[in-house]
Amino acid sequence: MKATEIKSDIFWVGAIDWAIRDFHGYITPKGTTYNNYLILDEQITLIDTVKYDFAKITINNISSLIEPSKINNIVINHIEPDHASSIDRIMAITPNATIYITEKGKKGLDRHFDTSKWKFKIVKTGDSLNIGKYNLLFIETPMLHWPDSMMTYVKEAKLLISQDAFGQHIATAARFDDEFVECASHAELEDAVIDYYANILMPFGHLIKTKISEIQKLGIEIDMIAPDHGVIWRKEPEKVIQTYLDMADGKADSRVVIIYDTMWHSTERMALPIMEGIKEEGVDCKIIKLRATPMSAAIKEFWKSRGCLIGTPTLNNIMFPSVAEFLTHLRGLRPKNRIAAAFGSYGWGGGAVKEAYEEFKKMGLEIVEPGIQTLYRPSTEDEKQCYEFGKGFAKKVKEYHAKFV
Ligand code: FEO
Repeated sequence: MKATEIKSDIFWVGAIDWAIRDFHGYITPKGTTYNNYLILDEQITLIDTVKYDFAKITINNISSLIEPSKINNIVINHIEPDHASSIDRIMAITPNATIYITEKGKKGLDRHFDTSKWKFKIVKTGDSLNIGKYNLLFIETPMLHWPDSMMTYVKEAKLLISQDAFGQHIATAARFDDEFVECASHAELEDAVIDYYANILMPFGHLIKTKISEIQKLGIEIDMIAPDHGVIWRKEPEKVIQTYLDMADGKADSRVVIIYDTMWHSTERMALPIMEGIKEEGVDCKIIKLRATPMSAAIKEFWKSRGCLIGTPTLNNIMFPSVAEFLTHLRGLRPKNRIAAAFGSYGWGGGAVKEAYEEFKKMGLEIVEPGIQTLYRPSTEDEKQCYEFGKGFAKKVKEYHAKFV
């Protein structure tokens, strides 16, 4: 994709990764983009770079606008390699540029590159840089989602370059939210925002609220948000801010996701009557088999649902490995404001359901005890009990959800 002007003399010069499907373990069925921005002002300023493999593409985009050696400043908002791993390629053609970066960003960059010959200016929240007609304001956002992270606000353009925040993993020829909605749908875009938040930002909800409030207190006007992944928010940037605030408050739908795995279909046979019982209570329900579903998709569905049922067979007295992997991953994401229970089949000693509850307790989830277990294959009577268990859980989900509305 060629360079695209997003504001007067401010250009997207990034790259689209149509083919990536595994983003450090986060499955990205729709690919992604690495967005970076070039401001043509008295001091030419590049904001962020791209993943190393795409260096040539961003250099070509920059070269279509100016001779790259004329770049005066490079702002590195975030040092994760999908944004900063081509900085050495950029510095090779812009050796006199000064890099604006947070203190922690500089320390991190030093661990990845020989930076001894590069010029740096360490910045913190409130620092600004006049580059001609535009003034840049730097806003640190530590742990959103790395310690080095920051955003750059272009004052006169009312443009917030927000790095990972407000991003989405979507490879698309559309550069803007309204263009994407026109060729796809608002629901698809919103789903991508939730997917990204659930898999990357879920642990940091409390920080997000504080940081958004801090930015609002700065009194800055925002009429465009340009993240480092996905489409740029120009139509209704305030909507994506509100979506983030809602998610930071733990917003979820009053529904249940059943996330399970199965060895010989016995735990799976339990899931179906449980789902029927949930539906009987008027609660929507989705079933996800772990080995048939990317982990990131299961995480997203967990996050969208107020209630979660984990189904796990017992294998060697403990949880089935895919279920254990899922719960360990989920614990790292520090979920909040969700209610959970567990079920599963066992052959002799059991143990998996008990372990699942131990994981729920470590996460601080609201739980409904006891879960339900069946010996080997569920009998007709067991299936009736599963149905009642589903009904009972759905009632608890409705009660719990009412606290949030
Ligand atoms: Fe898109 Fe934290 O990197």
